[in-house]
Amino acid sequence: MPATLGILRATTADETRVPCTPKIAGEWVEKGWTVRVETGAGAEALAPDAAFEEAGATITDREGAAQADVVWGVEPPDEETIGEMAPGATLVGMLHPLDAPGIASALADAKVTAFAMELVPRISRAQRLDALSAMGAVSGYKAALLGANALPRFFPLLSTAAGSIRPAQVVVIGAGVAGLQAIATARRLGAKVKGYDIREAAREEVESLGASFIELDVEIEESQDAAGYGRALAQEKARQQTELLVPHLAKADVVISTALIPGRPAPLVITEAAVEAMPDGSVIVDAAASHGGNCALTSPGETITAHTTTILGPRNLPALVPGHASQLYARTLAAFLSLSITDDAAFAPDWEDEIIQQMALTREGAVVNDRVQSLLSSDAHRASTD
Ligand code: NAI
Repeated sequence: MPATLGILRATTADETRVPCTPKIAGEWVEKGWTVRVETGAGAEALAPDAAFEEAGATITDREGAAQADVVWGVEPPDEETIGEMAPGATLVGMLHPLDAPGIASALADAKVTAFAMELVPRISRAQRLDALSAMGAVSGYKAALLGANALPRFFPLLSTAAGSIRPAQVVVIGAGVAGLQAIATARRLGAKVKGYDIREAAREEVESLGASFIELDVEIEESQDAAGYGRALAQEKARQQTELLVPHLAKADVVISTALIPGRPAPLVITEAAVEAMPDGSVIVDAAASHGGNCALTSPGETITAHTTTILGPRNLPALVPGHASQLYARTLAAFLSLSITDDAAFAPDWEDEIIQQMALTREGAVVNDRVQSLLSSDAHRASTD
């Protein structure tokens, strides 16, 4: 039997995205589902209440949306929302499982089954559910635009009657999904772009976008884990890396940094000495600011100037492109739901499926993800020994 789908409005400051679009709501209404959208959920993302209603959804208050069988969110829910959810209901969203594992305990206590979009495995069959990649692409695009906008110079080479202008030099640190999109966007704007990553596998991707790859003379063994993510560098290697990067950053008009290690604070890659070496009027866009930042001087959520360099620390880049970020994010949630229904549209996730198993954060009153469990027990251990 088709079930009810609840769409929560985001409440965090600066969050503008909505986890469902009117088009996707309409698709689920067609399958026989009842879709309940919290008032104003898509107001900032080109998805007004009227468009949801036109698609066959119902507009409701928060409680009405939270009491659905399956609930979609953009951000981890607050305590009140968790309290409103029915025991046995399912929550799917960006739940920050490794950064804020406490949410998992609260969801388990409330007997909510939770699936975290951050835990989608990076396998080809799960690509349509890969919300991190979708949001990474939005972040990289916007980071390049913010860099171009803050730079008091042009990005492209220009030959005019009033003289010629050389193209801006852009360095992108971290060539994962966000970094590669930042490279592509900066290239489209006409900048000369260099990319750097600890993973040697990134070289080919950087070069295929027409950028050059920065090679540092640091020997890094096992820079990549089994899932394809970067690994944290040992302290001495990290120090060598930051030093060797300085001459490259000293020539950069714009640095866009996107380096992340899952479940850890962002690695420090740009030291104060590097900022000091950068040209006057240069710009750093620290796209890792929400994880503490890649630059020693980044102030998350703020724009500061240090040694004549403007340092931007945007905390939520996807929220700066709410229309398309919501559309892409909602598609990943819809792909999850499509994977989890029977032929007659009943919600019944297949617990034998690797994707379902890996995304599961809580089930039947317990936290079921190993990494989150161990984070929670080390937190509990720390609290008991403090
Ligand atoms: P991420 O957002 O966790 O990290 C961004 C980048 O920072 C990574 O490329 C990482 O190697 C790099 N990095 C970490 N520490 C660094 C340091 N100290 N200096 C320089 N760079 C550093 O990664 P993201 O974008 O989520 O993806 C990483 C990789 O995962 C991809 O390149 C790919 O191999 C794999 N992937 C696979 C997918 C699939 O198969 N469906 C989808 C998306 C990603």
